[in-house]
Amino acid sequence: MTATFTIAIDGPAGAGKGTLARRLADHYRLNLLDTGLTYRAVAHALIQHALPLDNVSAAETAARQVDMAKLDRAVLSAHAIGEAASKVAVYPTVRRILVEKQRAFARTPPGAVLDGRDIGTVVCPDADIKLYVTASAEVRAKRRLAEIESIGGTANFAEILADIVRRDERDMGRADSPLKPAADAHLLDTSEMAIEAAFLAAMAIVDDALARRNKA
Ligand code: DC
Repeated sequence: MTATFTIAIDGPAGAGKGTLARRLADHYRLNLLDTGLTYRAVAHALIQHALPLDNVSAAETAARQVDMAKLDRAVLSAHAIGEAASKVAVYPTVRRILVEKQRAFARTPPGAVLDGRDIGTVVCPDADIKLYVTASAEVRAKRRLAEIESIGGTANFAEILADIVRRDERDMGRADSPLKPAADAHLLDTSEMAIEAAFLAAMAIVDDALARRNKA
């Protein structure tokens, strides 16, 4: 039996994997890592120093300096940083540095829920559970618009949708560690599923794996 328990969650931006990851980590008392924040931290460092996003050696330095204990969601969650993160995430050397840090996090007892794009395929290929969370681009764009409007902002649906489609293409189309479901991932399509239903479905999958593990 492995000492730690790992739940890997992958999927495109806005599919609900972050909320699901938080719910599962709370419920099973596991550590939680939103790996997108690590790529965002690299992009943020470059932007802060007014460096171009294709300055690979500066991105590598920024990746080495990422402190997993100091990932500040309030600062890193800006939409523009997400876009920039998707651009720096194409560089294999940057990925390698961040993946090492993510693996060390996953190995820390009692284990972790990690969410991102390549967790089940590259970061934790031996994860106890792999989930691939998707939703149609239209549904994700509607959710994003509702989120912006709920905090008093305004946005254009067509622009949000175009943004989402562009980000999907970049994340799924890159040569190194593209977003795709691991062969052994459970697929959860949240297009017509509330987050609570997705959480219950995921819990059933995890409980089943835990029961089998305890019997073994
Ligand atoms: O999940 P997010 O929106 O915070 O991620 C921002 C970008 O970071 C995403 O568009 C691609 C990249 N990313 C990645 O390449 N691999 C991961 N495991 C997580 C994020």
